[in-house]
Amino acid sequence: MGNNILLTGGLGYIGSHTAVELILAGYEPIILDNLANSKVEVLDQIEKITQKKIPFFQGDVRDEEALQSIFSAHAIQGVIHFAALKSVGDSVLQPLSYFDVNVGGLTQLLKSMQKFRVEKLIFSSSCTVYGQPTDGWAVSESTPLQEPTSPYGRTKRMNEEMIHDICQTSRLSAVFLRYFNPVGAHPSGLIGELPLGVPANLVPFLTQTVAGKRDALTIFGNDYSTPDGTCIRDYIHVVDLAKAHVGALGFETIPHHPEIFNVGTGKGSSVLEVISAFERATGMKVPYEIGPKRQGDVMAVFANAQKISEKLQWNPQYSLEDMMEHAWNWEKNQN
Ligand code: NAD
Ligand code: UD1
Repeated sequence: MGNNILLTGGLGYIGSHTAVELILAGYEPIILDNLANSKVEVLDQIEKITQKKIPFFQGDVRDEEALQSIFSAHAIQGVIHFAALKSVGDSVLQPLSYFDVNVGGLTQLLKSMQKFRVEKLIFSSSCTVYGQPTDGWAVSESTPLQEPTSPYGRTKRMNEEMIHDICQTSRLSAVFLRYFNPVGAHPSGLIGELPLGVPANLVPFLTQTVAGKRDALTIFGNDYSTPDGTCIRDYIHVVDLAKAHVGALGFETIPHHPEIFNVGTGKGSSVLEVISAFERATGMKVPYEIGPKRQGDVMAVFANAQKISEKLQWNPQYSLEDMMEHAWNWEKNQN
């Protein structure tokens, strides 16, 4: 069998970094993306980094014919399914779009995979499925999941359940990667996150503020029951996250049993710690103010990352300062 891996949503933030790491590991990525949240120029940038041509199909993962043309043209060994809508706030306002793309997209993908007997799937899940853990802030893969707090979170939970059910009656080998908070950019400065409009996430908002595109960063609450009063998350460098997909592709799952891996550093950082790491890494000052809590925010959560370290020999290489330095290099290249 060849080494062809289909990346749905492969021109997006995480998909583009994963395409690079797959090539470095000897795989041949093939990308499907409808450019709903990315630009076709990202393809040139990936090719510049890797010096490889990548087959690209512009199309929608919900489109049976688009999938058919890819699966007929290439012997696909496995699929990494990134394509989704991902804004929590937006999902509250437009839940139907989220069910359509995230649930409808996976449904069509699974049908096409079944038809073409493609039996390996890596799925982009999220730590959002854990909600605010009730028994400590570190969550392992067996920590009970909480009721989703947004339609986005619900689609991720439903997607995991759908894949679980399909595995019961098929030979599908599936891995769920529950990403914590991916940040940073490729050290080359050629690919990174391309937020549409005003960023909702901390790090792109922070870098845009320092670049002068926003007046000040608002910290959403400083009276949480955490050591410095601000929320705690597990920030993970997007290149480390990308490498976890390479590990997951090589993992032999048990039949009928999707394997779950947390992908985080195992270390929680507060919003204030992120700001200090940025200032140390770049020598730039971050203008910030304290604002009210953001509705729906969890106070503190980070990964217990023991399982991925043991079973995939995956360990993050980049520090929080590296994440900030690379995020800033990327921001400086955007104009
Ligand atoms: P992204 O928006 O940068 O990438 C998603 C890509 O999918 C985009 O290029 C977009 O154009 C494409 N896409 C969207 N709908 C499509 C469709 N119907 N058909 C084909 N392509 C489509 O997002 P990302 O940050 O790279 O996230 C990738 C995956 O990881 C998503 O499933 C997301 O929910 C999940 N995830 C992301 C984060 C995060 O913080 N970035 C955290 C946890 C999980
Ligand atoms: C959010 C989503 C999560 C999703 C992730 C990736 C919620 C509740 N969770 O995670 O489901 O997987 O994005 O898209 O929306 N912060 C500020 N000021 C800002 C922005 C953020 O103080 O301007 C704080 C937040 O309160 C939070 C931390 O920074 O404590 C990180 O926020 P963010 O980057 O939005 O990610 P999450 O909320 O963890």
